[in-house]
Order: sequence, then structure tokens, then C-alpha cells
Amino acid sequence: MTKKRILILASGRGSNMESILKAIDQGQIAGEAVGVISSNPDAPAIEKCCQHNIPYSVVDRKSFSTKADFQKALLVTVQGFRPDLICLAGFMHILGSEFIGKYRNRIINIHPSLLPSFPGLNAQEQALQYGVRFSGCTVHFVDEGMDTGPIILQAVVPVHSDDDAQSLAARILVEEHRIYPEAVRLFCLDQLKIIGRRVIIDQGGKVNG
Ligand code: GRF
Repeated sequence: MTKKRILILASGRGSNMESILKAIDQGQIAGEAVGVISSNPDAPAIEKCCQHNIPYSVVDRKSFSTKADFQKALLVTVQGFRPDLICLAGFMHILGSEFIGKYRNRIINIHPSLLPSFPGLNAQEQALQYGVRFSGCTVHFVDEGMDTGPIILQAVVPVHSDDDAQSLAARILVEEHRIYPEAVRLFCLDQLKIIGRRVIIDQGGKVNG
């Protein structure tokens, strides 16, 4: 099986990006990281990808006056990397429908809640405000909706009565760093089959999920 070409889009801290790069470095993923695109020239993610010797491009949202122009430039830059898989890792922009159509079922995202609960921004704060006893994280395929695509993996964490958004986010992040590389690993082995809204994990005759 040829190695999948993995492209990571990140706008900020880049800890999920790093968890994927580490798993690739350790040979856990049948893929190669071909590049990182950041929408923010000051993102700490850029320094982290340099430490892993991964080429990066910046498509700075601030240098485009319209969302459409930004999306166009982003798509052109993405196509230059010829990715098989695009991982959104703290990428703070909603992808346009042309982009999603071109890479359908090849874009995945991590979200810090148990979807479909608490999509969008500040998911940990939303969970606290709602008063749920458990929250977690979700890796999902990206479709045109806001955090609505087919779910690949989820992990659950408890919400403690003395939690604030930071402490809950930290507990969830530990799980993010575990399940995101695992979802990438499964994708690169062609073990994820999408049937309607469900993602079946097909491990050569042995079916999970
Ligand atoms: C993570 O909590 C992720 O779930 C969300 O944005 C945050 C990004 O963190 N989509 P990092 O940049 O990966 O450290």
C-alpha cells in the first residue's frame, strides 16, 4: 500500500498537529506528512512543524479582504501539496463548499466535545454551562455543516464539579492527542468506510463501530 500524503491545516498552538507528526515519526501511521498550512503567520504550530522538518505555507487570512479570496488561495495552496488526507487541527476557518466538494471524505477534524452536542466555538465552556456530567472529543469527517460530518472516533471524559473551561479542556486534550492519530492511522490503512452517516471501521473482515 502506498503511503498516504497527509496535509495538516492549523491556525494556533498545534498540539494536535504535533500528536499526528509524532505518530508518523514513530512509524505508527502508513502515511507521510507532506506539509502544514497555517492561516496565521504567528501560529506556534509553525515552529513545531519546523522542528519535525515539515514544509509549511502561510495563507494569512488577514491579507485577503474577502472570505472568498481567502478560500480560493487556500484551495490553490492545498492542491499544490497533492494531499490524500487533510487534517484540520485547530484550523479556525470554515471551509467553503468548493473545497469540501473537491476533497469529500478526505478532510477530517477534531472537536472538543461529544458531537452532536456543543458544535462550534468554546465547546468546553458550552458543556460546562449546560451542566453535562461527561464530555469528550470527536474526530469526524468534514461536510458542509458546522461539525456535522460522519463521526470516526470519540472519547469520553468526566466533568468534575470544580472544573472550569481550562481544566476541562486540559482533560479533553489528553484524549484528543490519543484519538486523532488513531483516526489518521485507520484512514491511512483504508479501514474507514462511510455508510450514510456511519463510519464503519473495517479491519480486514473484522468490523468494528
Ligand atoms: C483543540 O481543542 C481542538 O479540538 C480544536 O481546537 C483546539 C486546537 O488545539 N478544534 P491545538 O492547536 O491542536 O493545540
